[in-house]
Amino acid sequence: MEGFQHCRSSTLNGVMQNMNTPSRVLCKALQGKIMTADQAAALISSGDNVGMSGFTGSGYPKEVPAALAKRIEEANSNGQKFRIGVWTGASTAPELDGALAKVDGVEMRLPYQSDPVCRNRINAGEMEYIDIHLSHVAQFVWFGFLGKLNIAVVEVAGILEDGRLIPSTSVGNNKTWLDQADKVILEVNSWQDLRLEGMHDIYYGTSLPPNRLPIPLVHPHDRIGDQYLHCDPDKVIAVIETHSPDRNSGFSEPDENSRLIAGHILEFFEHEVKRGRLPRNLLPLQSGVGNIANAVMAGLNHGQFDNLTAYTEVLQDGMLDLIHSGKLTFASATAFSLSNSALETLYNHLDEYKDKIILRPQEISNHPEVIRRLGIIAMNGMIEADIYGNVNSTHLMGSSIMNGIGGSGDFARNAYISIFMTPSHAKNGHVSCIVPMVSHVDHTEHDVQILVTEQGLADLRGLSPTQRARVIIENCSHPDFKPALQDYQKRAIAHSHGKHTPHLLDEALSWHQRFLTTGSM
Ligand code: COA
Repeated sequence: MEGFQHCRSSTLNGVMQNMNTPSRVLCKALQGKIMTADQAAALISSGDNVGMSGFTGSGYPKEVPAALAKRIEEANSNGQKFRIGVWTGASTAPELDGALAKVDGVEMRLPYQSDPVCRNRINAGEMEYIDIHLSHVAQFVWFGFLGKLNIAVVEVAGILEDGRLIPSTSVGNNKTWLDQADKVILEVNSWQDLRLEGMHDIYYGTSLPPNRLPIPLVHPHDRIGDQYLHCDPDKVIAVIETHSPDRNSGFSEPDENSRLIAGHILEFFEHEVKRGRLPRNLLPLQSGVGNIANAVMAGLNHGQFDNLTAYTEVLQDGMLDLIHSGKLTFASATAFSLSNSALETLYNHLDEYKDKIILRPQEISNHPEVIRRLGIIAMNGMIEADIYGNVNSTHLMGSSIMNGIGGSGDFARNAYISIFMTPSHAKNGHVSCIVPMVSHVDHTEHDVQILVTEQGLADLRGLSPTQRARVIIENCSHPDFKPALQDYQKRAIAHSHGKHTPHLLDEALSWHQRFLTTGSM
């Protein structure tokens, strides 16, 4: 505690004011390793597995990936192949995923990504991609399941005298990268606000089976770790000083569909409170990525629920608004994923929000044990659901990857209530998002309790497959597709002579093709 106090009194904020120096690298041993991004990129070899920081557009390294892309392009023009494995927290930004994918520099990418160039390469068979649960990544690296992690490239907001690292706007897998990589490159980004110091909780107590212990986290606001990342200075081969903003996309204003979906979910919460199945302040909320998830948060801001908490993966604009209005008293996440205007709000009120937000490693923010213990209400987007409640979050037409499963599986399987939501149709009404059989399964019928579209909400708890099918078609499908789905179910039941999960396999499997090729019903 003494050492900690001493260190707090010499934080970078104080030192910067006192010494009037722009450098945030206070550790003498690391000051000698400051170099340019080009020099650092030269230390990465083709074939390396590189663990990069970054979770959504927050906290990703801003200069080394671009310098590496330049180096790869040069190698390509000399007829040499130069490709690396890119491991991250989740999606990053065009300066990382886009830049490396553009020069065909990625042999293997994991886990979640959402970059269009990256996506095209994967779907063209030019880049290998492993879509794994976000909570699995760190432990798979510790178990040795993914091979050797050669280099970590991690953005931090500053380095203290004793080498401790102030994390920036995302934590993701950074702790694991710094622990497991042979060599480390640090980007120290002076654009990141130093008042982030103290907002993180880095848990160093994880251990490996058979000696694992319970994670001592019983409330979203519990602090169980350290405010700083640790890294052996001897492993650090380069330090780059940068000054570049994060890059997160904005959110669109909730459209009519999103508002309707949010309305159905709020009504469901009210119903559950009345039935005594949820407390008045609900249970900790998890909200997935994208506009609809953001709109549900906006709906809660206008709803009747107070004293809410969140135990989630990304903190988006809607959740920050809830903190601002006082409806949400605490949020735990692994990353900010804020539009520029929300980021401005965050920084304008950082001192006030500081004890209301914690950023943790994603192995803890998404940990099944903690999610089960806290009783999370999980709300995630999907591409399609079938009439029995299986959900596809990742693939178009069964074959083309969209983004990845992200943390949706971590939350859905272990939540108190798992909700999936989507507009009832896509592609200008040509495609139904409720189908006889999903073209790819991410979340099985066993992990899905509630489905919501703008048409309505299907509560699947306690229902058999045929009962579920009736409710899903009736409440969630678009009127343009409802008769075809009802007809399918009727014929499937007749054909299967009372079997448990009736299907007409040829028809179920050709459903997607039929509607996409004809363009309409
Ligand atoms: N068939 C074909 N295409 C479909 C479709 C369907 N049933 N449903 C959606 N799409 C298309 C849309 O048309 C859109 O295509 P476009 O980019 O060419 O316009 C695209 O898929 C994305 O759809 P959109 O409605 O914009 O969805 P979104 O932004 O709400 O995202 C997911 C939906 C499923 C892609 C997104 O939630 C996701 O990646 N989820 C998985 C990860 C996750 O849940 N993370 C959170 C865990 S903490």
